[in-house]
Formats: sequence, structure tokens, C-alpha cells
Amino acid sequence: MSNQDELFNPLDPEVIRDPYPVYRRLREEDPVHWHSELGAWVLTRHADCLQALKNPAVFAADFRKVGIPTPGPLLSLQTLDPPDQTPLRHFAIDALRSQDLGTLERNAEERAARLLDEIAGRDSINFVTDFATPFTLGTISQLVGMPPPEADEEWRQRNDELHRSMDAGLDPNSEEAGLAARQHFSDFVGRWLAGGPTEGISGFVATNRSKVDYTDAVLNNSLRAFWHAGFEVPARFLGNALTTLLNRPELLPQFFADVDAGVEELVRFSGPVHVVSRVCTEDVTIDDRRLRRGDMVIIVLAAANRDPARFDDPENLVLTRSPNPHLGFGRGAHSCLGNAVARIEARVALPALLRRFPDLRIDGELAWWENATLRGHSAIPVALHGEPAAVR
Ligand code: HEM
Repeated sequence: MSNQDELFNPLDPEVIRDPYPVYRRLREEDPVHWHSELGAWVLTRHADCLQALKNPAVFAADFRKVGIPTPGPLLSLQTLDPPDQTPLRHFAIDALRSQDLGTLERNAEERAARLLDEIAGRDSINFVTDFATPFTLGTISQLVGMPPPEADEEWRQRNDELHRSMDAGLDPNSEEAGLAARQHFSDFVGRWLAGGPTEGISGFVATNRSKVDYTDAVLNNSLRAFWHAGFEVPARFLGNALTTLLNRPELLPQFFADVDAGVEELVRFSGPVHVVSRVCTEDVTIDDRRLRRGDMVIIVLAAANRDPARFDDPENLVLTRSPNPHLGFGRGAHSCLGNAVARIEARVALPALLRRFPDLRIDGELAWWENATLRGHSAIPVALHGEPAAVR
């Protein structure tokens, strides 16, 4: 995409580093913005985003409804809408309910403690690769009942390609490799399910396969989507949350006093999923703008989460904020299935890290993934211990 739109160039490196001023301008100046280069409407007000999320019959995730084919590796519970999606979504909810989240939380605590022990002897780490990713990958692997993949070069490359392709609407060049990566991971999941797993969510799926009437491809893709969303998104969230908290160290006592409220506010303030996309299945009016059947709609959750019409003092981190009707986990038929797991991971990992290393601080340049859809850091260099005492 060239950078021609006056208001919104999501892949501009400066916007990737800090998109919030742009979101604010969009919300104030043109909240139902036609982006001619993207060929899409951009929604930034909380009320409009919520309306779109809650109405999949009109704002569909299933683009086939307007004649746009969905490539095979993308067909999953994320790209079907009710009623087609409903039995699969219920199946996924049943699979989650079959798991003991109390045990998952205790194991997450042990995993965090182990990882912190491993890094404790070092002066500095990259929080993303040395803690957040192994922590969330270990947690989701246990939940799904699949071994964590070998993080070899091929895995890293496929993973990277899949992430880039989340911005395929902005950068069509990324699409093909992203589809191949999805297929690769779905095949991996398919082989795992065929082996008759007994543990975790994959055990539930293998045992109860006959209760849902979907093709193996749709089922494999859905489990792959769950598994993949289950480590990358919370890892990015932990990084965003950590940098946000380290910017406001005076708020840490408040965070420790009510971690759950704090995590909720961190999802609102610095959640990783910035946009989700839908397509209009019929003509619809928002404000005085006429959206036509077939038009793409970009729902900017991260802009909605700072809408002053919905939140007092929205640009401020208020760790005690309640109620907190943020859209960081989406809403409606596609809302986040892993929100309980994500909340557990954050309330375990962040206090464990910050209590273990009270002098922890950013120590170097932050690096961002070049993603507009899923915002987060590729590197967060942190020093773990206090300043070394001056040598006399
Ligand atoms: C802080 C961490 C997380 C955030 C902010 C987050 C956010 C979101 C959002 C905004 C959506 C809605 C997408 C849409 O409307 O198109 C979503 C969907 C989803 N999330 Fe999460 N997520 C997180 C962690 C997780 C975890 C840990 C899992 C799995 C254990 C997970 C699994 C899913 C799945 C499977 C969907 C698709 C649901 C559907 O389309 O029916 N997420 N997530």
C-alpha cells in the first residue's frame, strides 16, 4: 500500500510505533472514514465498532456471503458466521470447559517461576524471546495437549509469514506465504489429531469428533487458529503491558493491589489486537455515510477503547477503572475464546516478574513487529537488576 490516505497509513513505521494520535484524529474528524486505497470503511467510535461486532448478519466475517472466496487454509470458526459457525463455536466452548483452568493457572505459576529462575543470573534479557513467548507457548501447548513445536528456523519463518499475512488487506504481497504457513500448521494439527490424543483440548476434539459435522480441514484450521492465537497474541500483550507499566512505575502498588482490574485496563489501554475486518452483506447507514453491500469494514478496536464517549479520561491508564467495557477481546460471535486463559497468563506473569525483579527497567531500544493488526514488540531489552554499585 502506498501512503496516500490523509488520515490513516497503518503501516507507516511511526504509526506502528504509536498509532493512538492517528486513531484520535480519525475518531474526531471522520469516525466513519472511507479509505479509498484500502477500499474499506474505517470505524473508530466505540458505539459503531460494537454495533458492527454484534451484527454478523450485516458485518460478516464470512466473505463468501458477498461472493469473495475464502482460501482453504482460512476456513475456520473465525471465518464462518452464525448459524454456520454456531455448532463449531459451541464445540470449542465445550472443549475449553472440559479443561481445568485452576490447574492451568497453577502450572502457569510454576512455568513463570522456572523461567524467572533461568534468567535470574543474567544482567539483561529480551523479555519477548526469553520470557513472554516461552511462557505463553508452554501454557497453550499444555491447554491444547500438543507438544510445543521445535522453535527451529523453519518454524520461526512460517510463524513470521503467518503474522505478516494478518495485514494482507494492507500488504497483499504477504498473503501467499501466509496461506502456506497456515496450511503447514493445520497439517501439523491434523497429524496430531489423527494420532488420537487424549490430553487437553485436542484430546476433547479427537474423542468428540463425531458430534460436529464439519470437514477435517475446517476442524484442523480451527484448532490451529486456537493454538496459534493462544501464544502469539498473549505474548504480544504481555510485552505491551510490561512497557506500559514500566512507563508508570508510580502505579505499580496500585497494580499489585488489584491485579485483575489492572490487567483489564491494560487490555483496554495497550491491547495487542488493534483491528478486525468484516464485509457488509447489505447496504447500511452509519451516521450519514452509506456503506454498500460488498464494502470492507475495518473495526479499530484500539481506537474504540479510547473513545471519550465511552470512557472517562480515556488516554490515561487508570488501573482501577470499573466498569471497563473495552473491546480488547472483541464482542459477539467472534469474541475471544481464550480471554479467560489470557487473563490468567497476565495475572500470573506480570506480578511474578515485577516482584522478582523490583529494579527491572527498559535497557535499550524497543523494536516493533511491522504489524498493524496485531501490535507488539519483537524486542524489549530489559535490565533485571539495579544499577551496579559504582566501583570505588
Ligand atoms: C491478551 C490476549 C488476547 C487478546 C487481546 C485477544 C483478542 C481477541 C480478539 C479481539 C478476538 C476477536 C477477533 C474478531 O472479532 O474477529 C479474538 C478471537 C479469538 N481468540 Fe483471542 N485474544 C487473546 C488471547 C487469546 C488466547 C490465549 C486464545 C486461546 C487460548 C485466544 C483464542 C482466540 C480464538 C480462537 C478467537 C477466534 C474466535 C472466533 O472467531 O469465534 N485468544 N481474540
